[in-house]
Amino acid sequence: MSTTPPTFDLVVVANRLPVDRVDEPTGPTWVTAPGGLVTALEPILAAREGAWVGWPGVPDETVEPFTADSISLVPVRLSADEVEAYYEGLSNSTIWPIYHDVIVPATFERSWWQAYLRVNDRFAARAAEVAAPGATVWVHDYQLQLVPQMLRERRPDVRIGYFAHIPFPPYELFAQLPWRTDIVKGMLGADLIGFQIDADADNFLRATRALTGLSRRRGQLRVPDLSTAGTRGVTVTDFPISIDSAALSALAASPEVAAQAAQVRADLGGRRIILGVDRLDYTKGIRHRLQAYAELLAEGRIDPAEVVLVQVATPSRERVEDYRRLRDEVELIVGRVNGDYASIGQPAVVYLHQNHDRAAMAALYRAADVMLVTPLRDGMNLVAKEYVAARVDGDGVLILSEFAGAAVELRQALLINPHDIAGLKDAIVRGVRMPPGERRARMRRLRRVVLQRTVQRWAEDFFGELTGDGAVAS
Ligand code: ADP
Ligand code: F6P
Repeated sequence: MSTTPPTFDLVVVANRLPVDRVDEPTGPTWVTAPGGLVTALEPILAAREGAWVGWPGVPDETVEPFTADSISLVPVRLSADEVEAYYEGLSNSTIWPIYHDVIVPATFERSWWQAYLRVNDRFAARAAEVAAPGATVWVHDYQLQLVPQMLRERRPDVRIGYFAHIPFPPYELFAQLPWRTDIVKGMLGADLIGFQIDADADNFLRATRALTGLSRRRGQLRVPDLSTAGTRGVTVTDFPISIDSAALSALAASPEVAAQAAQVRADLGGRRIILGVDRLDYTKGIRHRLQAYAELLAEGRIDPAEVVLVQVATPSRERVEDYRRLRDEVELIVGRVNGDYASIGQPAVVYLHQNHDRAAMAALYRAADVMLVTPLRDGMNLVAKEYVAARVDGDGVLILSEFAGAAVELRQALLINPHDIAGLKDAIVRGVRMPPGERRARMRRLRRVVLQRTVQRWAEDFFGELTGDGAVAS
């Protein structure tokens, strides 16, 4: 006798499950990974019968559905070949570079597209199985752009939302994708399509017009509805994502984190600290920032006895060639800069290719006089918002690339163009020397934005728009 799997009124579908595998002597267990998205969705998932469909992050592993921190998790299995073709290949070597201004060339491989189709179909099938009649399904990000339409074909009764965490490129770049029309049609399977900023939504609407002839009228696209032979409305708009500002502020204000921050400062010899925190990704502009810093040291505009750069570079996508090359390049530059400007016990650049827990991150933010966020292109950049939330002392300078989505909201940062190395150098010097009055005035206004626009509000706004019922969780 076969048992029917449980169904849920709300289903989140994302490439990764919000869990980390912990290998115990008794076998592997899974714990929820702390992160803004989980925190934001947890109350919404808990308030409804909620489930999360995603890949557990390990290839070739069949994991049965399980519950962690009261979220029902529905694992999707990916083979090692699929991880290579769907995740490292089409998602991160084709779509990722095209959607980030082709900072590195995109690779086009037809077999990767076949894997992307197959895996998107598997996610859609799993979501269709676990969605209750009339459920709401919220699909996330560029790995799963085809899921909305694939799900709609199976389950025309469900309400479907799609949120793009990364930028949507200008049509001239998007048009390079051989599968551009399939992607647009896949996303149009949703009732609501959300982007980080207005410019992304505009780019998507332009692509839709060019590839399908559909344009927005009275705030909606009208797309053919195969189940009724009529049309249905698709809303396309921006929903800038944020962080759990209150939780991070509280953590940063704790005596433990304050003590840890003081220790960081002492360990670095009481020097002024410039901090970078990024996944080791070519979109983040780490090389540009190191070049600017090295030139400032060479010109004597920054004295390594007074200032230190701390660069946290989180390991990421390490099997993808462009990421390996970037790591080599960054580590070569860091080695050279330290070779030229460090002295015993006094590195010019502290480089940490490591993960940190939330408290250690908060301590670094609190210790940093200047936060350097220099992406060449970034959907939002949560690190910028986290720095602001962590500055419970109302001090600190944020230098922020105008090519990060966060720059739309964080206007009181020192906004820079990371390609303009001379301008970036001036901003670094200005940040290091900024008088306390100006620092505090800017930070006050930045904090107002970040403390008001939280990830909880983001989730409620999106979900309220999708379901048509305002606040869903407190
Ligand atoms: P992206 O989504 O491209 O990685 P974001 O800046 O939007 O960039 O988000 C990065 C998230 O990862 C932030 O929440 C940040 O605190 C976290 N993070 C980055 N580096 C580390 C690290 N070394 N250890 C722990 N968390 C990190
Ligand atoms: O910002 C895009 C994104 O895919 C996030 O969704 C994710 O947390 C981050 O980049 C890391 O990516 P990956 O899941 O490939 O490690």
